[in-house]
Formats: sequence, structure tokens, C-alpha cells
Amino acid sequence: MKKKITSPWDLEILRESIKENRVSGKPCVSVCCGTGCMASGALEVLSSFKSLLKQKGLDFQLDTKLTGCHGFCEQGPLVVITPGDILYCRVQEEDVEEIIEKTIIKDEIIERLSYVEPVSGKQIIKEHDVPFYKKQYRLLMANNGKLVPTEIEDYMALGGYSALKKVLENMTPKQVISEIKTSNLRGRGGGGFPTGVKWQSCFNAPGDPKYLICNADEGDPGCFQDRSILEGNPHSVLEGMIIGAYAVGANQGYIYVRREYPLAIENFGQAIEQAKEYGLLGEGIMGMDFNFNVKINRGGGAFVCGESSASIASIEGKVGEPRDKHTHATEKGLWDKPTVLNNVKTWATVPIIMEKGAEWFASIGTEKSKGTMIFSLTGKVNNTGLAEVPMGMSLRELVFDIGGGVPNGKKLKAVQTGGPSGGCIPENLLDLPVDYEKLSEAGSMMGSGGLIVMDEDTCMVDVAKYFLSFTKDESCGSCFSCREGITRMQEMIDDITRGKSSLEQLELLKELAQVVKDTSMCGLGQTCGNPILSTIRYFEEEYLAHIVEKKCPAGVCRDLISFSIDSELCTGCGRCLKNCPVEAIQGEKKEPHVILEDQCTKCGICREVCKFDAVIKI
Ligand SMILES: Cc1cc2nc3c(=O)[nH]c(=O)nc-3n(C[C@H](O)[C@H](O)[C@H](O)COP(=O)(O)O)c2cc1C
Repeated sequence: MKKKITSPWDLEILRESIKENRVSGKPCVSVCCGTGCMASGALEVLSSFKSLLKQKGLDFQLDTKLTGCHGFCEQGPLVVITPGDILYCRVQEEDVEEIIEKTIIKDEIIERLSYVEPVSGKQIIKEHDVPFYKKQYRLLMANNGKLVPTEIEDYMALGGYSALKKVLENMTPKQVISEIKTSNLRGRGGGGFPTGVKWQSCFNAPGDPKYLICNADEGDPGCFQDRSILEGNPHSVLEGMIIGAYAVGANQGYIYVRREYPLAIENFGQAIEQAKEYGLLGEGIMGMDFNFNVKINRGGGAFVCGESSASIASIEGKVGEPRDKHTHATEKGLWDKPTVLNNVKTWATVPIIMEKGAEWFASIGTEKSKGTMIFSLTGKVNNTGLAEVPMGMSLRELVFDIGGGVPNGKKLKAVQTGGPSGGCIPENLLDLPVDYEKLSEAGSMMGSGGLIVMDEDTCMVDVAKYFLSFTKDESCGSCFSCREGITRMQEMIDDITRGKSSLEQLELLKELAQVVKDTSMCGLGQTCGNPILSTIRYFEEEYLAHIVEKKCPAGVCRDLISFSIDSELCTGCGRCLKNCPVEAIQGEKKEPHVILEDQCTKCGICREVCKFDAVIKI
């Protein structure tokens, strides 16, 4: 049973005793146990470390830690050995004995497990020297690799809950709101609304009780930063929520988290229980006249449920569909009571601002977008993972310096930001400093921080088609312009990819995308045209090639490509014939083969298996 903290001083005494009981500088093996690393065997690596260290009698001299996500997901499972900050990548159970024998006992580096920079081929030993981390500015992700997410004492040892202490001890709710306003923090869930203004409006609103919601629905394809924060440092979100509740006068909070995030739910649930045990949550927090509780609400599993009015409806037990927002949630939100709803990253930023000060926070970033943003780097990029950077960093730095560029020497074609609500930014705009305004000026969006890199083999019409089919599936359908508009747009874009469209249709598509944007009720419909409009804006020639020349320049759209075999290069080895799933290839052994066009499904397997580059895609 933990001893309750009954005053702000108690917290400091507890923190000191936690630190004293820890031998500082004791060697430690940290294994990244974010969902990505766990899927690649991190838990097996950790248990192998534990059992082998015990067998060798080393378990008293060395700690083993299961930490949250380090962000460098491409290279997982990751193991970091301190002191020395030695990073090992893609570690498997069978590597553990060697790591103990060589690195831990003899101080030797195992080259095969070290990170090799893909462009220069340079071997990098220390985690902080890896270019992926070097250009980042980690505020929210800073402690993910340092603490065990399920141990509140770890969070406290690193200064956790001191922002809450500062707030409860020295500040009035008004002062907290004013600090958040001065920091210019903008919501990280997509829209970028000023957080202080939102809190002020809830504070001013008449009505009792008041509620607070953490939006952890994170439905954007390719986005996983909210999940990583919840899994890796749940107390940072909880501390932000407690501070927010104090500021706006709420006694009950909810976290709306998608059901598909079991580890985030588990770790956040444990954080709630531990905070309660210590008296940091519940009745009389830190001995003050302030009560606040948090409940977990598992999401309905639909992208649209992340929209604020839909999440509110879903928490109320209604169908998770957006409602008309004639009144703000800050006045009439959950059960028609004043409610503040913020994204996971927004809540996790709050303790940092309260601890380090609004002025300090506002000194990071651009004129109108302050602080840092975490991007999920995915797609055709060498270093897939989470990159936290100051607002204003250019897309080029993000993709090339942090992301390590495009694999296999291919050329970058575009960067898609903002998920299904965002757009594609072409290579010639890569020097764009990323912030809310610059991205929307370029026809895209910040969204929740999705960043998908596309190389020369990507067909931009196909990309627009993909995002449109996503929003079509996820549209709740209650609003006519969105329901019918997206369906019609999808038919039109499908016709383009089949070479069955005309220039008039293209004009109509542009017009319709704009109409759906202008006339839909919620953000899903209002942004679903962005992928189409941005690809037409920057890659119109690709649309024209599909429509006029009936060609797909990237060779992606099946109806517009065909395969044939170069008789000069074909040796008649028979590999393509054996591998063709529809028997569309004929030929005798050692004689050039041919593809029967009317039977070919254009799957491309023949091209993949041919060792003589004899299969040509036209
Ligand atoms: C279709 C749709 C899905 C959304 N999904 C999310 C989400 O998963 N997480 C999130 O924080 N915000 C999401 N939003 C934005 C929320 O409606 C809301 O603006 C945000 O959570 C407010 O928090 P913030 O001010 O901290 O950004 C979504 C919006 C739309 C239109």
C-alpha cells in the first residue's frame, strides 16, 4: 500500500526517497517495448536478459528495464545499454547471450547489432549519435526511453508531477489558463485551435459539473504517436489532464482511446490506479480542496469517432457520429455540460509548459506555431519511426536528415501530410517549413502528424484514390453531400485510373471536391477533397496522362499497363511460366516465352521472378 501524498511537500520527500533508493549510475539494459518492438520479439529479448543475467549471477549488478517506445521503429527491437548509451538494433532472443558476454562483461561492441547509417554506410554505436535522433528536439518523447511506463516512481524520479505540485501550490486556475494562453499552445489533434482560448471558454461557461476529455482515438492511417505516448509515458498525459481539470474546474475526465490500442489502455489504466494510490487523483488531490477522477472509454473503432462531437456522443453511449456544432463543446459538451476536449499530445505538453514556463515554450517553433510536433515517418523512407521536431523544420530535413532519405536510391516524388484530411506536397516544395499555416497554404494539413513519403514509383492518382476510398468507408453517411459526394468522386477517380475518363470529368471532379468541402457538416467531409485537389494542383500532368494518353506514368494502374517479354533477353528458363498464377505465359524450354495479354491479370509476378530483366512493363 502506497503512502498518500497529503501536501505538495510530501511529493518532494517521496521523490527524494525514490531517488536515494536507486543506485545512480548502475548499469542498465533498456529494451524498447512499444507495440512495434513487441511485435518483433522485444518481450522475449527482455525475458532472456533477465534469465541469463540471473543464471550468470549478474542480476544484482545490472538493471533490466522495459521502457516505452524510443521512436526508431524501423530498427526494432531496440536495446540500449547505459552507461555508454550503446544502441543495438533488431535484437533477437538468440543475440542476448552474446551481448552479455561481450558488451556487458568485456565492454566489446558487437558490430553486427550496431546501427549502420544507410546513406554513408557508417557504423554508429551510441544512441544519441544516430542521425535519426540527432536533429530531433524531444520534449514529449524525451522520457519514453528512460522510464518504465507502468511504474509511477520512475516518472516521479524524473521530475514527474512537479508541474502539478507547482500549479496546486502557487497558481490559481486563472493563472494556469493565462500561462497556457501565453505559451500559444495549439491543439495537436489536427485543427490547431489555441488551447488556452478553449480552456478559458470552458472556465467561463456556466454549468456544473464540467468535464474533460482526452482524445486518443488516433484514426489516421500511419499515425502512432499518441499511442506511443500513452504506452510509453502515460503519467505525462494524466498529469496534463489533472492540471487542465484544476484550471477549468472539472471533476471528471475521460480518455477516449481506440479499442485497437490494448497496451495503451493497459498502461494508462495502471497509471490511473497508481496516481489514485498516491493521492494524485481522486478526492483531495495532494491534500488540497480539489477532486478529479479519470475513466477510460474504449473507442467505437471508427475514424469518424475521433471527431470531437462524435467522441462525445460515443462516450454518452450514443452512435459515434458527428453532431452539428451550433454550440461549442466548451459550453455544451458531454451530457450538455461544459467540456474541454484535447488531443493526447496537447495534454502531454501541458506539464512541460507549466514546468518550464510559457515564454520558454513560445520561444520554440515559428511565429504562429509554437513548440514541437511529433511526426510518424512512414512510406518510402529509410528510417521509419517517430520524429519529434520543433515546428518550422523543413520537410527536407525531416525526410532526409532524420528519415535518412528514400530507400534504394529512388527519387522522392511527394510527401503526404495530415492523413486522409491532408494533401500531397511535391518535391520542389520540400524546403517548406512545417507549421499549421504553411501546410494549409500548400493545400495540405498538419493533422495528427502523419507523414508518408512517396517515391518515383508512386502514382499520384492512385494515392488520391486510396485516401478517398478510406474516407468513403469511414464517412458516417448521415450528411448527404459527404455520403453521395465521396461516392461519386470515387467513381470518377476510378474511371480515371481505368483510362475511361475525359477532361470534362476532371473539371467536374475538381468542382465536386470543392463542393463537398464547402457543404459538409463535419471535418471529415470538409477535408476529404484535399488529397484530390492537392494531387491535381501539383501533379496534373499525371491525371492528363491517364485521361488523354491512357497511360499511368508510374506503372501502377493495372488497366493502363501491360507486360510483354523481350525475346532477345528471354532465355526460356521457365521461371515466369511456373510462377504465373493464371497460366498466362506460354513457351518451350530454352525458347523465348510470350504473355497472353487477354489472360494476364497484370499482377507483375513474372517481372519480379525474371532473372534476366526480360519482362517489360509498358
Ligand atoms: C474525422 C475526424 C477525425 C478526428 N480524429 C481525431 C483523433 O483521432 N484524435 C484527435 O485528437 N483529434 C481528432 N480529430 C480532431 C478533433 O475533432 C478535435 O479537434 C481535437 O481532438 C481537439 O483537440 P486539440 O485541440 O488538442 O487538437 C478528428 C477530427 C475529424 C474531423
